[in-house]
Parts: sequence; C-alpha cells; structure tokens
Amino acid sequence: MARILITSAIPYINGIKHLGNLVGSQLPADLFARYMRGRGHEVMFICATDEHGTPAELAAAKAGQPVAEYCAEMHQVQAELARGFRLSFDHFGRSSSTRNHRLTQHFAGRLDEAGLIREVSEKQVYSVDDGRFLPDRYIEGTCPNCGYDSARGDQCDNCTKQLDPTDLINPRSTISGSTNLEVRETKHLYLRQSLMREKLREWITSKTDWPVLTTSIALKWLDDGDGLQDRGITRDLHWGIPVQKGDQPWPGMEGKVFYVWFDAPIEYIACTAEWADAHGKPDAEWERWWRTDRGAADVTYYQFMGKDNVPFHTLSFPVTILGSGEPWKLVDYLKSFNYLNYDGGQFSTSRGRGVFMDQALSILPADYWRWWLLSHAPESSDSEFTWENFQVSVNKDLADVLGNLVSRVTKFARSKFGETVPEGGSFGPQETALIAEIGARIRDYEGFMDAMEIRKAAGELRAIWVAGNEYLQAAAPWTVVKTDPEQAQAQIRLALNLIRLYAVLSRPFIPDAAEAMMQAMGSDDWSWPGDAAGALRVLPPGHGFSVPENLFRKITDEERAEWQTRFAGKRD
Ligand code: 2FM
Ligand code: ZN
Repeated sequence: MARILITSAIPYINGIKHLGNLVGSQLPADLFARYMRGRGHEVMFICATDEHGTPAELAAAKAGQPVAEYCAEMHQVQAELARGFRLSFDHFGRSSSTRNHRLTQHFAGRLDEAGLIREVSEKQVYSVDDGRFLPDRYIEGTCPNCGYDSARGDQCDNCTKQLDPTDLINPRSTISGSTNLEVRETKHLYLRQSLMREKLREWITSKTDWPVLTTSIALKWLDDGDGLQDRGITRDLHWGIPVQKGDQPWPGMEGKVFYVWFDAPIEYIACTAEWADAHGKPDAEWERWWRTDRGAADVTYYQFMGKDNVPFHTLSFPVTILGSGEPWKLVDYLKSFNYLNYDGGQFSTSRGRGVFMDQALSILPADYWRWWLLSHAPESSDSEFTWENFQVSVNKDLADVLGNLVSRVTKFARSKFGETVPEGGSFGPQETALIAEIGARIRDYEGFMDAMEIRKAAGELRAIWVAGNEYLQAAAPWTVVKTDPEQAQAQIRLALNLIRLYAVLSRPFIPDAAEAMMQAMGSDDWSWPGDAAGALRVLPPGHGFSVPENLFRKITDEERAEWQTRFAGKRD
C-alpha cells in the first residue's frame, strides 16, 4: 500500500466558482484521490479556501460585511458546493486558520534566518482620510491614455493599459472616495528567490515525467528577464496574516500582512494540521504526510492546478520549502490544466458568463457534470463547453450506454429469473472473449489513471461500458431465453456481475451512479479487480439484487435551448 498526498489549488473565497475553475483543479484531484483509494492506497486529499488578499477585502466590502464574517460564510457556501459535487476531501480548510497563521510566520522566520529575505523601501500611495496605504486596486482615477474616468491603479479596464497608481489623473480612494492622497515611503519584505535559481533549475529539470505544460511554464519563468525576480511578500492590508518572525514581532513591519500568494500554498500543510485538529489527532499524524524526517519520506505528493498557478508552485513555494532548510515534502508530480472555454467565448466571473457550480447542481445531478467535465478535461489544449456537446455526451455515454445496460439487464433478469443471480449454464466463447477484452481494458484504464491522463482514462472507461453493451447485443439473452434458458442464465449472471464491476471502475468519475449500481447488486465489495475473470464471479448464483431507479435521464432539445439562453448572459 502506497501513501499518496494530493492537494488541489485552493479556490479564492470571493464568490462561487464556475465549471472552468472546477475542472482545472478540484475535480481532477478528486478523480485521482478516489482512484487511489479504490486501488487500496492510503490517501490524504487536501483543499481549502484561499481567503486573503485584496479581492477578498473588496468582495466583503461589496457585500457590506466585515471581511472575517464574509469569509466564514463563503467558506460554508463553497464547502456545501464541494459536497454537492462529491469532492471527497479529507479536509476542506481555510487559509485564515490559526494553523496557517502560525506556520506562515514560522516559514517567514526561517527564511529570514537563512538570509532569504530583504527589506525594500518603496513609495506608495497613502490615504490620509482612510489612515492606510492603498493597494493599487483601491485607487481609481482618470486614465492618462484614454480618459476613462474609472481606471484602476494597476490597469485601465477601458483601454487595458497597465498603469502605476501615480499615473492616474485625479486619483481617489475607492474605500472612501477621498482625494486626500499622498505618496509616502513604506518598507516591505522581499523573498530573494533569485538566489535559488540554479537549485530550482536542477530540481525542475530532474522532473522528466512531468507534463510539458508544467515544465515549460516553470522554465520560461525561470529564464525570462523578469522571471525569477525577488518578490514582495508583504502588503499594507488589514486582513491577512500579520507579519511576524515566528512568534516574535518584526520591527518595522507593524500593521502589515503577508501577501496572499505567500501564505496560500503553506495552507496545504496547515490544512493537514487542521485535519488532525478536527479529528483530535496528535501533530505526528499530519507530520507523517509532510515531514520527511517524520515518516513522509515514503509519501508521493501530487498537486493539481490551472496553468496560471504553475509559477507559484514550481518557483515561489519551493523557495519557501527549500529555503526553510527544514525537511518538508516537496511536490513529486504536478498536474496542470489549460482553460475550459464556454460556448464560443470565455467563462467570466465578473460578467457572470457560463455555468457556476451552484447553477449546475440546480439543473442536473453532479455525475452528469463530472462525466462531461472530466471526459473533456483541458489537458493538452484548451477545451470548450457547448450545450450540444454536453447533451450528446450525457445522452449517449451515460443514458444510452451505461444506464440502458443496467436497466435492461436488471429488468430482464427480474422478469425471467426473479431477483437473484441465476445459476444455470456455463460460459462459452463469447463470454470468454468479453472477459479477455475487459481484462485488457482494465489494465489500460489503470495505466491512464496512474499517469493522470484523464481524457484517455475516460475514453477507456467508456470502451469498457461499450464492450458490455456489444456483448449483450450479440449474445441477445432476450432471444436465447426462448430456446436455451440455461444459456441465457449464464449470460445474465455475467451481465449482473458486469454491473458490479462497472460500479467499482466508474466510481472515481460518477460516484453516485456507482453507489446506486453497487447497491442494486446487493453488494459492498468495492475491491479493485485483480483479474477480470475473478471480478466477474463475485456475485454468486442465488445472490439477491434489485432493479435500480433509472440511473440517468436524457437531456431534451428544449432543455438544451433553454439552458443555453439562461446561462449566456448576466448571472442574477
Ligand atoms: O487561482 C486561484 O484560485 C488561487 N486561489 C490558487 C491558490 S493555490 C495555492 F497557492 F494554494
Ligand atoms: Zn484607458
């Protein structure tokens, strides 16, 4: 039994995520976690909400709530949606937890001791009336380039020009509207990541089995002129983790917090500690996942994320880990994703374009979405969600192929032989051929899943379902029963066993349907198939089964058209 640590990029707290976000990290990470558990390995699957930074503050202000309260509420909302999508986290934590405060401050202290932090004096806009420095996004004014009167301090949304707050004409605070602004000197901490460039290069180039998408992004950032520059890791915000060296104050840094991207990945570790706390377990229990001196040397660590997150996970976070000089676990395999587009354009959170997690679950159960999203995961290139394609996939793969097989077999079996596995007859060449095909395909499926080739794995699973259908088509027990009922019994015995096997194999993709299939087969045997012949004998003659509710329904053309219109525009 191997020990597998899996983390999904932690979603920002501000707002409900769309399906593009979901398929870029949390959902494939869940697929992999479920698969690894199914294979009998010990799995720790971690995710959390990413709660700090300006977007969290701005979203809370927009909602008219104190930021701590806003985050607590939104965490519950996201946790509930994660349950709705059957994301099987061992713990869904919060980057604002006490554990993360302590650990982030600990890492900063260690990095400072290692000489990897320097102080930099900067000029920044201070709002006299608000009594605080303003981050770029908290300043608005007239764009010097196009004259747009609501350009932000970092960029003009009208002409897209990148700006410095001091470029703005008539700048004002977005907090109070005050124009009583001045430029003041302030000090910030910088992580000297440039010192570790060669160490990082060595580490990244040793990862010859990583997806090209991951290593190409990492190496580009490493080598680009402004790639591995030292990064500011502190901010003048109220909400965040106060800057301290371990549990000691950091002179000159009073009132400042760590930059959200400094503390977010540390939450992977802190979250595992939160898991231990939540279950009343001692520190040793989470440390055995993360400290190579305390048991984590035999852990294999997988990260899942969208491509925009890759630089932080291949450069900045490893600098934190390596620079601490302590034996923390580094990632072993980093799976990254391209973007999912929506119906001829992009998903857009700000414009409410596309389908968001809550909306998706309000129209169809999780399995429908999981199947489409995973079987179309944007792995080698961006992919696109269209309602036509979604309808075809659901109706064909789920309803016609899998759902139909289950319903036809169980109904026929009940009507001809009652609600137990029939015992007559024996397997002939057709059955032997099917068993051989399924056996070979299971090994291919495992190969793709082990390599996290998600689309190919979905394709193989679909082929396993199709093989069963084709067998039934050719064997035709509904005809055979009239002339050779013994033979039909053998065929149906095999088909009922096939349904249980499908439950085991399909569970990582469509967990609810898998449960329903297993339950209908009156079994609780989820063991992974060693050999297909053995796995197809698990339900013995005389074993009771039942006819399940229809597993999947079809999407009608009317529904498709209605949803297409409903989700095209502004979210209400
Ligand atoms: O892109 C995002 O949604 C970020 N909140 C991901 C952070 S991942 C990690 F650093 F924790
Ligand atoms: Zn402009």
